[in-house]
Amino acid sequence: MSSHPQTADYEQVQELFDDNCVMCHAGPKAPKGLRLDSYENVMKGSENGSVVEKGNPEGSELVRRIRGTSTPRMPLSGPPWLDEVEMKLIEDWIRNGASPPAVRSSNTQSVPEPAEPPKPKDGITYADVAPIFKANCVKCHNHKGLMGPPPEGLVLASYQEIMNGTERAFVIPGNPDASELVRKIRGQSLPRMPFDGPPYLSADEVALVERWVTEGAKDESGNKAEIPVGRKVRLGGQLTGIASLDGLPLLINRRTEMKKKTAPGSYVEVRGRVTSDGGIAAELIRTR
Ligand code: HEC
Ligand code: HEC
Repeated sequence: MSSHPQTADYEQVQELFDDNCVMCHAGPKAPKGLRLDSYENVMKGSENGSVVEKGNPEGSELVRRIRGTSTPRMPLSGPPWLDEVEMKLIEDWIRNGASPPAVRSSNTQSVPEPAEPPKPKDGITYADVAPIFKANCVKCHNHKGLMGPPPEGLVLASYQEIMNGTERAFVIPGNPDASELVRKIRGQSLPRMPFDGPPYLSADEVALVERWVTEGAKDESGNKAEIPVGRKVRLGGQLTGIASLDGLPLLINRRTEMKKKTAPGSYVEVRGRVTSDGGIAAELIRTR
């Protein structure tokens, strides 16, 4: 690369915001009203005023937050924090006058894109659904999020963490109806997610996540996930038959405990385990 310092351009700065900040700092509920999803919004600042002082990085609240001289340090989900190169890039951009993006290209991949209609040709991989989780879920479901520790211990920040779940599995490849993550975004299992909704996910976004699960919950390289046979699940939903949860067949046997009065129409919690074909063997059904 060239040896003399280059002027940091805004596109690079926005990329850092997209990767580290926008999961929280976007939309009508952005913390302190500060949206970091476009140049205009960054310059607009927060309800406390501007966070970028042109030419003066040290005097910019945004820089103080990423350096930690003003607290809480950002990103709130850290550590990790931005690294030195990244912080310098933002500081250089401000020192050089915080200029707007030079070219307005229409196909920048800045803001996490809302789900596009599924691309049938290559199938759906994690790369297609990750932006949905990043934009709508990771602000809470991360090691340190808006609500502190991840709700119920569930981290949705990476493929591994989503598939690992907690002591329970949330994605059953091939079976969206048995996947609590899907049930939560459909609103079958309550409370519906995202917890700070409405707005909830759009029908297209829900459909994309469903297809991703149906096609085997592939990782970014297109490898299908294995069925987590024997793992625990806890599903919320409506009993639609004596052995069916919103149409999902439940395997019931003599040892399945039926607590309280459970009848078709009741909202219930089903605890069970994943069978070898990706179904659910119910161990306990109770009304909530
Ligand atoms: C997990 C959610 C989350 C992430 C990620 C996050 N923030 Fe924040 N941010 C918050 C919250 C919540 C506040 C309000 C905290 C407070 O000051 O009480 C805040 C406050 C701020 C403020 C202070 C606004 C003001 O005027 O009071 C700045 C500046 C800021 N964030 C910048 C950033 C930057 C830059 C990033 C990415 C490097 C980032 N944040 C990432 C949640 C987040
Ligand atoms: C504003 C914070 C917040 C956001 C955003 C959010 N969640 Fe949650 N999530 C919660 C809380 C709180 C709970 C626990 C709710 C309860 O059971 O009372 C939860 C629970 C869950 C559970 C059930 C965990 C369990 O152990 O059964 C799933 C699955 C889930 N969320 C998925 C998502 C998905 C997917 C998104 C994004 C589409 C999302 N959440 C967005 C706060 C959030």
